[in-house]
This record gives sequence, C-alpha cells and structure tokens, in this order.
Amino acid sequence: MTSSLNGKTVIVIGGSSGIGAAVALAAIARGAQVVLAGRRLMPGIDNGVRSEPVDVTDSASLQRLFETVGHFDHLVYTSGPSVRAKTLIETDLDEAQDNFNVKLWGALRAIQQALPFLHEHGSIILTSGQLGRKLAAGQFIKTVINAATEALGKQLAKELAPRRVNVISPGVIDTPAYAGLCEEQRLAMFAKAGGALPVGRVGQAEEVAVGYVLAMENGFMTGAVIDIDGGGQL
Ligand SMILES: NC(=O)c1ccc[n+]([C@@H]2O[C@H](COP(=O)([O-])OP(=O)(O)OC[C@H]3O[C@@H](n4cnc5c(N)ncnc54)[C@H](OP(=O)(O)O)[C@@H]3O)[C@@H](O)[C@H]2O)c1
Repeated sequence: MTSSLNGKTVIVIGGSSGIGAAVALAAIARGAQVVLAGRRLMPGIDNGVRSEPVDVTDSASLQRLFETVGHFDHLVYTSGPSVRAKTLIETDLDEAQDNFNVKLWGALRAIQQALPFLHEHGSIILTSGQLGRKLAAGQFIKTVINAATEALGKQLAKELAPRRVNVISPGVIDTPAYAGLCEEQRLAMFAKAGGALPVGRVGQAEEVAVGYVLAMENGFMTGAVIDIDGGGQL
C-alpha cells in the first residue's frame, strides 16, 4: 500500500531532538519531505532533510519559517520547555509563564502563522503528556499546559475543519528532555517510573512517533487524544 505521506511536506517544530526527531525519521521513511525546525538548527539540507531555525516564542521567527517553506501538508508540534517539578508556593511564576510560552502559546502562535500555508486537507498534531490527566503534587505546570493542549486540540478540530487536529499524549519517554540528570539519576528514574507501568519500562521516542504518523495518515481521525504511555493513565 502506498503511504499517504508519500510526497507530502511535513514541518516538525521541535524536530531537533527527542520525539520530534523520531517523528521526522518515521515520516521520511513513509516518503514525506520533512522540514525540521528548532532554535539550534541552521538553515540547510542534510541527507535530503531540510532544517530551518525557529524560536516559537517569537512570532516573526515563525512567520519567516512558514513563508520560507511555503505550502505544506502536516504540522507536527513537539517543542516543549524543560520544566522542574515544584509546588505552587515554590514556583517563580515568571518562569512558569515562560514554560507556557513555549509549549502552549508557542503552539497557538505556530498554528496561527501556519494556517495560510497549511493544505485544507492537511493536519496538525500537538503534543500533551500524561500529567495532563494524571495528577501529581508539584506538577501543576505540566498538568495545566498539557490539559490546555488537549482542550485546544479538540476545539481546533471543530474550528479548523476540514483540516484535522489531533494530540499525542506521551508517558515517560527516554529522550534528551532528561539530559539534565546525571546518568545514574536518569537510569534510576526510568527504572522507577517504568517499573510502575503495566509494560514494565519507559518508552522510546520511536514508539511515540508511530502515533504521529497514524494521526497524519488517517483521514478519519480528528479531535483525538492518543495516549502512548505504557499504561501510565491506568
Ligand atoms: N520525554 C517525555 O518523557 C515526555 C513526556 C510527556 C510529554 N512530553 C512532551 O513531548 C514533547 C517533546 O519532548 P521531548 O522528550 O522530545 O523533549 P526534547 O528532546 O527536550 O525536545 C524538546 C524540543 O523542544 C524544542 N524547543 C524548546 N524550546 C523551543 C523554542 N523556544 N523554540 C523552538 N523549539 C523549542 C527543542 O528544540 P531547540 O532546542 O532546537 O529549540 C527540542 O527540539 C514536549 O512537549 C514534552 O513536554 C515528553
């Protein structure tokens, strides 16, 4: 069967690392032309994959990205900040606002700037996270950003139709998001988090990437939130 991504153009904002980079590889394997976007990328083409710099906190930078790429078929948004778990009372709210600015407001800015260029039968895939519905003390920033992202995905699936909008909700995934921990701490955290799951381990970025590919390829899927979390919500 020919992939519905064959010959399509996919922009992955957050494609410089982790889940976004894995989505890019999965889309390329399905025949898509992929544009990776993130702050640390330089403009250019490497092994047939195009890179463009973008800072999602800056509307002008997003506008430049979409004007440079032109018409495209699918927008994947995986940009996310590094968030430290803290209780509300310990939290610097300016710092919390910066976190919202990258993941939630960044997605809103990106979608607004993307719409003139996004094919009317194309799609948008946002990224939430299991803490959006799995509540834990000290995690209010991730909970609120992820819950809002899921609500936004459903609302925009109505508003932007016939374009489709879906959300992927990852559980704990072994990505550079945890690079701030030393190896020993990281492995201990993964062992503890994974051991508490029905599948007995944390996930890999490639396992989450297949959800984005499904959401891009399946023309009957919109307004969905897909949990890929090893059973973390159970
Ligand atoms: N890994 C997990 O366990 C997990 C669990 C639940 C949800 N998630 C969510 O999944 C998404 C991807 O996470 P990941 O694990 O793949 O993390 P990651 O490897 O740290 O990737 C984060 C991405 O965000 C981009 N980014 C950060 N600030 C940006 C900005 N101002 N402008 C543009 N891009 C920006 C980074 O690119 P540059 O540095 O190049 O800008 C990078 O590509 C995030 O939304 C995260 O909250 C992850």
